[in-house]
Amino acid sequence: MKNTAAGFKQQKENGEKITMLTAYDYCTAKLMDRAGINGLLVGDSLGMVMLGYEDTISVTMEDMIHHTAAVARGAENALIVADMPFMSYQTSVYDAVYNAGRLMKEGRCQAVKLEGGLSVCPQIRAITEASVPVMAHIGLTPQSVNAFGGFKVQGKTEEAARRLLQEAKAVEEAGAFAVVLECVPAKLSALISKEISIPTIGIGAGAGCDGQILVYQDMLAMYSDFTPKFVKKYADIGKAMQEGIAAYIDEVRKGAFPAPEHEFKISDQVMEKLYTEGGCAK
Ligand code: KIV
Repeated sequence: MKNTAAGFKQQKENGEKITMLTAYDYCTAKLMDRAGINGLLVGDSLGMVMLGYEDTISVTMEDMIHHTAAVARGAENALIVADMPFMSYQTSVYDAVYNAGRLMKEGRCQAVKLEGGLSVCPQIRAITEASVPVMAHIGLTPQSVNAFGGFKVQGKTEEAARRLLQEAKAVEEAGAFAVVLECVPAKLSALISKEISIPTIGIGAGAGCDGQILVYQDMLAMYSDFTPKFVKKYADIGKAMQEGIAAYIDEVRKGAFPAPEHEFKISDQVMEKLYTEGGCAK
């Protein structure tokens, strides 16, 4: 059955944990959907794990639409959430609604995610009023990496913790159906999760969140540039891929691949004619 934004809220009310992963392409979305994931985020992390940038700043609306549409074609049941890239919503409420609409119309997502708390509440309100469900994202917000001065845990002082709690309440009040908490101390996330009625989706935010999300290349050990402390590796797909590719290279070099079972056949008479009756082989 198709997961929905309303279904996420229901899961929180029922005490059922919400499962999310990032996805950026058709095949992976299909595998994750079949595994039973509740939601797929087409994250702007694609800038790093798919496109090789050092951060998410350069990701464009065109990048997001292209990858969101591929994920939407692959996933039948998961709720598809598309990230709004840097400067597609910060510039104005108009830009935010316009670009959220493009992600839904052209990418076929069912919700969008944007980063920030109090400062983006007008955008959250306007996008929601335009009938596009919004997932908020507070704590460590990677689009602000240059303002933060690096990827750091957020909300550790009393003042910062109070501010995060206030931001969580503000995005709920503005109409967000869920909020991602990234790199937030576990006890603070647990408190925020109790204080608001919309689900919290944690990444590096502990077990007290209502759901969890990870970047799939991290949890399947496919991205080796940097692994955050909060990542658990569930399979070593990076190693399996590298071994499979090395075996292919070896067999091609040795002439062991393709084997007869991988080849297409032609009748001996046809070949005979090519050799004896003036065909191209003569
Ligand atoms: O872009 C992304 O993948 C994200 C997750 C880390 C939540 O925003």
